[in-house]
Amino acid sequence: MDLRVRTIEASEIDAWVQCMGVGFLFTVPEGYGDYFLGDVDLRRTWAAFDGDRVVGTLRSFATPFTAPGPAEVQVAALTNVTVAPTHRRLGLLTEMITAELRASAERGEPLGILIASEYPIYGRFGYGPAVEGASYSVDLATARFRSPGSGTVELVDLVTLRKEAPAVYERFRHEQPGSIGRDARWWDRTLHQVEVPGAKKPEGYQALYRSSAGVVEGYVRYRARQSSDNMRPTGEVTVDELVAATPAANARLWRYCCDIDLVATIRATDRPVDETLGWLLEDARAVSQTGRYDFVWVRIIDVCGALSARRYAVAGRLVIEVNDTLGFAGGRYALEGRPTGASCVRTDDPAHRRPGRPDDGRGRVGLPLRRGSLRPRPARHREGRRAPERRHRPVRRHVQIPHAPVVLNLVLRSSLPRAPRRSWYPPVNIAPSSAVSDMSGGPDRAGGAQP
Ligand SMILES: CC(C)(COP(=O)(O)OP(=O)(O)OC[C@H]1O[C@@H](n2cnc3c(N)ncnc32)[C@H](O)[C@@H]1OP(=O)(O)O)[C@@H](O)C(=O)NCCC(=O)NCCS
Repeated sequence: MDLRVRTIEASEIDAWVQCMGVGFLFTVPEGYGDYFLGDVDLRRTWAAFDGDRVVGTLRSFATPFTAPGPAEVQVAALTNVTVAPTHRRLGLLTEMITAELRASAERGEPLGILIASEYPIYGRFGYGPAVEGASYSVDLATARFRSPGSGTVELVDLVTLRKEAPAVYERFRHEQPGSIGRDARWWDRTLHQVEVPGAKKPEGYQALYRSSAGVVEGYVRYRARQSSDNMRPTGEVTVDELVAATPAANARLWRYCCDIDLVATIRATDRPVDETLGWLLEDARAVSQTGRYDFVWVRIIDVCGALSARRYAVAGRLVIEVNDTLGFAGGRYALEGRPTGASCVRTDDPAHRRPGRPDDGRGRVGLPLRRGSLRPRPARHREGRRAPERRHRPVRRHVQIPHAPVVLNLVLRSSLPRAPRRSWYPPVNIAPSSAVSDMSGGPDRAGGAQP
């Protein structure tokens, strides 16, 4: 094996997307590479090569990310991470991700973010879960609204939605921690305004909310499946996305969904963990949270840049110590936070919080190093016997870096006092995942794994 990691040239995009297809288990449609080239920044698009064959993919894109405050910070969103099944556990992901983190540090990006396909992958690289998401089901037999709400809802075509939705989303995202930006290509692709090789025919419906003053303040995209049992409706509506820039839009759009006839249940995923719908109903038990999960993961690259980007509910000072064996974020820092801003500098002062034990997970500032061993290491056979030593050349050794949950907590959770509550969305610890573009890639996400 002759293994190398580097960024790719435009002429290598077809091989790159083919490798991604193998990793995410989907067949790459003809012509997809050409389309995809418009989405990628080649300086951020990494491949692992075995000789001249692409055997690993990883890229990032630059996006604004809303931190508690709300405040905006420019981050690198990692996506399309795959290693060919023939080349797994040789350290190729490690090589690609450390190269990208290094490049990210050079670009001056204080944070990296991603959505993890599997929980155990990214902690070792210093990412930690920072934003949660939730899924819900609504029993329409009992969902009655306390108030009819105000404004109007209008069914529209995709062309109209493409025209109106971006401005609504921008208003929403600026207020909603955990959200990222969406560019014109994202909207065109998601709302089927351009031909994307292999893209499925659009299905479903979309509606806009207008306030009493006629201003578009929200939209919903949904699909329906109709069925019945003994002449009673058992069908479902799936809410793909409900984005509201105001409480009135949120309430009215939910009421619209709950008023759809011939269905018994609404399902919605990637919603805030503290979804407001229950509060709008006479019987809040009509809404069940059916799942809750880690959604956006964050990796701090520049502690001062990250912690001074957000806002804090009350004024306070905290000295923290951070370990980072990759060398990006380690050190001791004094953070001064307040509702209107924050500052963070390196310090020699004693830390209020010190690195904890390896097993203590969340709740402490930093974690000690967990030393890795040289690769390639003999894998274990399923039966427990050691596999034969691999013969190829070892990929350069990476160091393990600790999970960094607590610094993440400082970024998005509540180790420091929470930012002031907005009028209707608590500003921290929410995942309006509809607001977060898909960053994990995957079969029908391959085209969607973009800003
Ligand atoms: C996840 C994936 C990219 C890992 O690539 P890789 O080159 O095998 O990873 P590395 O060899 O650099 O592994 C580094 C470490 O992470 C561990 N690791 C890698 N993937 C893991 C997983 N899915 N679950 C648990 N641990 C994992 C390795 O065991 C290794 O640990 P060690 O250093 O203690 O030995 C690869 O398995 C893959 O392509 N999976 C399918 C697509 C996917 O899920 N991509 C992620 C999208 S978010």
